[in-house]
Amino acid sequence: MTDNQETPDAEDAIPSGSTTLPPPPPPPLRPPCERLPCHKSSVCSRSYFVVVMVFFHVYIINVIALLFYVHYNSGQDDANRSRDAPSGNHHQRPESGRPPSKPEFLRDVSLTRIEGIRVGHVQKVSLVPGKVHEMRTLSLKPLLFEIPEFLSKDECRVVMQLAQLKGLMESQLMVQDGQEELAKELNLSPEEIFNLLDINQDGQLQLHEILTHSRVRDGIWLTPENLREIYAGLKADKDGNGLLSLEEFRLLSNDAFQRFLMQQGVKRSQLVRNSRHTWLYQGKGAHQVLQDIKERVTRLTRLPPSLVDLSEPLQVVRYDEGGHYHAHHDSGPVYPETACTHTRLAANMSTPFETSCRYITVLFYLNSVEGGGETAFPVADNRTYDEVSLIQNDVDLLDTRRNCNKSNLRVKPSKGTAVFWYNYLSDGRGWVGEQDEYALHGGCVVTHGTKWVANKWINIDPDYQRQARYQQLVSQQPEDEEDEEGLTLNPDIQSSDIHEDL
Ligand code: OGA
Ligand code: CA
Ligand code: FE2
Repeated sequence: MTDNQETPDAEDAIPSGSTTLPPPPPPPLRPPCERLPCHKSSVCSRSYFVVVMVFFHVYIINVIALLFYVHYNSGQDDANRSRDAPSGNHHQRPESGRPPSKPEFLRDVSLTRIEGIRVGHVQKVSLVPGKVHEMRTLSLKPLLFEIPEFLSKDECRVVMQLAQLKGLMESQLMVQDGQEELAKELNLSPEEIFNLLDINQDGQLQLHEILTHSRVRDGIWLTPENLREIYAGLKADKDGNGLLSLEEFRLLSNDAFQRFLMQQGVKRSQLVRNSRHTWLYQGKGAHQVLQDIKERVTRLTRLPPSLVDLSEPLQVVRYDEGGHYHAHHDSGPVYPETACTHTRLAANMSTPFETSCRYITVLFYLNSVEGGGETAFPVADNRTYDEVSLIQNDVDLLDTRRNCNKSNLRVKPSKGTAVFWYNYLSDGRGWVGEQDEYALHGGCVVTHGTKWVANKWINIDPDYQRQARYQQLVSQQPEDEEDEEGLTLNPDIQSSDIHEDL
């Protein structure tokens, strides 16, 4: 047995019967560890144990302290959030710091945002009894998914027939009146108009500044060549540098461009959008197929049913051969003074800015198109977004008649497939945030046959309080009495089991 094999217990096990051994030495003055390795080992093991236990306890205490810290901080956060909340009758927080000046809404709803994971990721989703759908991530910017066989062939047929029965109207009218009067009323000088158009304020009007203006103002989609033709026809660009200076602009009459275009004749193919559409109500009493689709969209998006119920009706769109829809956003940016169309009446504010606040677009392909008609996402998953570089010289990425092949992503229409994407980012607190610029998309020109699609937009006000007030107001309507549970913001489908990874 060697010293270093001794255990603490063996320390006392000295043979007792021996008399030949010298008396034991006096007790050591130095610490035992230094004198006897056997003692050293035993004492060290104890202290090692003590040290480990101390560390362990300190660690546990740290973890508990951290949990307390997180809990305390998020509690404060909630209190702060409810503090800037306007009137309403939701729960109050007795512990929230200073007494609120008005009653508070508590943000008690958090919107589910489906995770994309990575492009190509497939999740199984349960949307209808007895069937499992596969949902594939197509892009992360915007967050975009594809679900084949979302609608059955029969459902597609019924939706197209109902739309035809109701009748479709032109999606865009040829001339938009009222602009001339507006200009006269404001009595703007050429300098003032020039300034309005010169987005980058460099004292020149670039092609894209005129093109963007014409698209937004008249709904006429000019190509860079069209514009050069107009410049040539009007002898507008005297120095021929492709830009309009203030001097060149001054020589043109107020409505020179418009008159020139009208003389030439504007074709439907020169509009921002060349399609026909109608709206189908999906509430109580609607065709069962339409109600089923709404229910399925609710399960797909995992949003509170009340939000889906209160959204726009189903829009059914038909593109004939040659039809298209140039790249656009389904819903605009939101500034503090922007109102949402759907909550405007409840918002108690007047503003010149209004947008549809379509948080999600669900697009259904009702038929497989013989040629063309893809849905293009020009800047999907681009590393950066640069609005100016979308229209550069002769390449206009927004033009779906010419440049769909240059789009980062194209979805081919396939009967029954649904695609859906988020037009807004998250605000980081479970609600709607800023517009997602990458959600830019359009319908490529249909080269053969007809294309039928339907849009289900889910409208949510990025201002939580306005959305809540609006829902409260609508739920007070007498005809909704029997359907009250559908009008709360609280989700009643807690379907965490719906989405599972493959
Ligand atoms: C729309 C739209 C795309 C398409 O209707 O808003 O973008 O592929 N449609 O038809
Ligand atoms: Ca300019
Ligand atoms: Fe769209």
